[in-house]
Amino acid sequence: MSGQDRQKRQAAEAAAALVEPGMLIGLGSGSTAALVVEALAARQAAGLRIAGGVPTSEGTATLARRLGLPLAELDERPLDLAIDGADEVEEGSFALLKGRGGALLREKMVATAARRLLIVIDEGKLVPRLGRGVLPVELVDFGQRATLARLAALGLTPTLRQGKDGRPFRSDGGHLIADCATGPIADAAALDRALHAIPGVVETGLFLGLAPQLLVGTADGRVLTLD
Ligand code: A5P
Repeated sequence: MSGQDRQKRQAAEAAAALVEPGMLIGLGSGSTAALVVEALAARQAAGLRIAGGVPTSEGTATLARRLGLPLAELDERPLDLAIDGADEVEEGSFALLKGRGGALLREKMVATAARRLLIVIDEGKLVPRLGRGVLPVELVDFGQRATLARLAALGLTPTLRQGKDGRPFRSDGGHLIADCATGPIADAAALDRALHAIPGVVETGLFLGLAPQLLVGTADGRVLTLD
């Protein structure tokens, strides 16, 4: 197991340890969130009973089902807790960049429906400014070339994500994803507003103002709690 994988696993186990009986929980997507699901299944085997887990992707739903966790729909009830990973976390503001796994829309719906959001990362995900890697932006098919041009007009460099089959990647909602090189993002809120003002944009990977609690796995084997 790589050092980064060990950090993810330690932080994922720390997150699962915070889950209490009867909770309705948002289950994130990606490799770290998968470790949280595994850790929750281990706790269930030891007697923990949750009300249900709301999966943020078909992949997470499949894993949770296979491990025997009870699943729930996102409905009018607030979630007690959502646990997810992130691609980048800005150190000063705890603004998040997410969606490189393609699950950004459901992840944002679940994160904003939770009373408390736990973000589980290895320390390599902490950045001084978001934008070290690409920013995923989810788009509808209709007018995709016009939408990509409008992203470029904002100063971004968008690339339509390709799937393993060589065809355009599709999110669970059936949409396209443009991975946008941004450079360091000085004003994430302004960029998010500008992106949402483009009618063909469904959602962005900027998760702002959510006040998450961070669980950060570190190289020396500790898990830092930051909030
Ligand atoms: C999924 O769409 C993403 O937002 C993931 O939460 C993010 O990519 C983190 O994934 P890893 O835990 O695999 O790095």
